[in-house]
Amino acid sequence: MRTLWVVGDPGAGQAATMREGSGRGDLRPEWRDHYGRVRKDALAPTSWSNRRRLRLLGVDGIGRNGPVLDLGAGDGNLTHTLRGLGFRRIVSVELQPELAAAHGTGAVVAGCATRIPLASGSIDTAVVMDVLHHLRADEVDLALDELRRVLRPGGTALVCEPAATPLRAVLDPLLRSPLGGATRFSRSKREMVALEWPTLGPWLDAEPAAADRYLGAGFVLGSFRRRGLHHLARLRRPA
Ligand SMILES: C[S@@+](CC[C@H](N)C(=O)[O-])C[C@H]1O[C@@H](n2cnc3c(N)ncnc32)[C@H](O)[C@@H]1O
Repeated sequence: MRTLWVVGDPGAGQAATMREGSGRGDLRPEWRDHYGRVRKDALAPTSWSNRRRLRLLGVDGIGRNGPVLDLGAGDGNLTHTLRGLGFRRIVSVELQPELAAAHGTGAVVAGCATRIPLASGSIDTAVVMDVLHHLRADEVDLALDELRRVLRPGGTALVCEPAATPLRAVLDPLLRSPLGGATRFSRSKREMVALEWPTLGPWLDAEPAAADRYLGAGFVLGSFRRRGLHHLARLRRPA
């Protein structure tokens, strides 16, 4: 076991330990090349929208001193928001830690959602935003197993992922059509959707049963609602 440094207040000390032998997973190479650039142009959520999602997921009722996992932390935007909300012991895990390094958003640990490099039961709260839909269906199930494993009994996962809403059923085909090239914003978004489609398409096909999937992975469903283009799920690892 190796101690992980925890992002946030350096005085907060260690919160989690890294498991030996848990390395990086595979990100589809074409996606790796484009991801940082496109997201920066068009898709990076503002701190405001992160906060709104977290509040809808009940973040205000969660204690600020326990270890928090930001899984699939990307460029560190959400880690930054969590810090701003007062969380002091955040560990950010990401397949491409160079994204956060490039944005100067803080230390991020290299790791894959299907083999989270943290000790079992070491995390109070996990935040997973826009990550699961990047995984193949079998990887989603592995990632949910891993999420449950790293949470302490009674711990909470706040999940926000694309929903199969009627709005998306119109928007995604539109973006993928020639009309998607109309503006810089829609071009970036179109590129993103195209890159994500190999996993986003199957995810959306399965999404209407997302709540059952979370239950099937052994979580208790605290809440589940669809809002805008996403669903918001608050999950609890049974005590
Ligand atoms: C849309 S971004 C979301 C970033 C961040 N959660 C946020 O909301 O700002 C998806 C992130 O998931 C990461 N990712 C994809 N597959 C992953 C995996 N198997 N393990 C860990 N991270 C992964 C990608 O590298 C990318 O940074």
